[in-house]
Amino acid sequence: EWSMEKFVDKEIERIRALVGEKGQVIGAVSGGVDSTVAAKLMHEAIGNRFHAVLVDNGVMRLNEAQQVQETLQKGLGINLTVVDASEKFLGRLKGVTEPEKKRKIIGNTFIEVFQDTAKEITAAASGSAEAGPIEWLLQGTLYPDVIESISFKGPSATIKTHHNVGGLLEGMHLKLIEPLRELFKDEVRALGTNLGIPEELVWRHPFPGPGLAIRVLGEVNAEQLRIAREADVIFIEEIRAAGLYRKISQAFAALLPVKAVGVMGDKRMHEQVIALRAVETTDFMTADWYPFDGEFLKRVSRRIVNEVNGVCRVLYDITSKPPGTIEME
Ligand code: XMP
Repeated sequence: EWSMEKFVDKEIERIRALVGEKGQVIGAVSGGVDSTVAAKLMHEAIGNRFHAVLVDNGVMRLNEAQQVQETLQKGLGINLTVVDASEKFLGRLKGVTEPEKKRKIIGNTFIEVFQDTAKEITAAASGSAEAGPIEWLLQGTLYPDVIESISFKGPSATIKTHHNVGGLLEGMHLKLIEPLRELFKDEVRALGTNLGIPEELVWRHPFPGPGLAIRVLGEVNAEQLRIAREADVIFIEEIRAAGLYRKISQAFAALLPVKAVGVMGDKRMHEQVIALRAVETTDFMTADWYPFDGEFLKRVSRRIVNEVNGVCRVLYDITSKPPGTIEME
């Protein structure tokens, strides 16, 4: 009979047998539930011989890199290296407006930074008596990801290049270790809770690899990121305050690359437009926009226009998927 405790014990044993007494493993973490659960499981199995790497790509949300570091390193005791590569990513994104180009730049830069970090960690670890070279790569692949990549590619994967499945392995001579490959999302959440991962992280909405780069429509720069970040914080804060965070599957603020006219006090404004998106879905292949009540939307819009410099209008996206995708780029 299957139980979570048995799964954890069995998986830890399997990891130890696979990796051996001195073997080392590296894996990227994002702060999302899958990579965090996978990382925590590895830490339970082999301690500091598991090296987690968080690449700050400059398009994460407000204070997100610090928060992830805090939770993983201090909270969960995971051996974590944080690499601030913001400048590299933002430099390469300069002038780029095409969504698929943004994804490719971020995906390729991520692989490059991750590989360089892997080499540095390998070099630092070599010569140690307790540990051998890094031979394994951890991936937090779930069962649905396995199915999606076997079955020729789901609709969203063919429309947009999701860079978090596969990809990472090219050019790296590492063996793949995937402790979550037999689990569904709800099982990963239960496992996370079982491993002592904070509830807030266990229930976090998914966040795309290309981050805010595909939520700042058009060109991405520091000022556009600031606006998107500040608006997103307000929207998510209000969703939590209304007790709707778990009911909604994914929500965010996107920044449109256009200006509109507004008036504040007696001043005419000509500033940018925020689009809010919130959807309910079970599989992320189809989704319905969330029917907020008018008072909620009024509150969020008032706060965003008042508190975020550079915004004079807030729109709510009432497009379901299909035909809309969840992300706006
Ligand atoms: P779409 O926009 O295709 O999104 O309806 C479906 C789900 O996938 C996420 N998404 C991505 N995740 N890299 C990712 O890691 C990407 O390039 C990407 N594009 C979309 C999106 O946030 C939603 O959960």
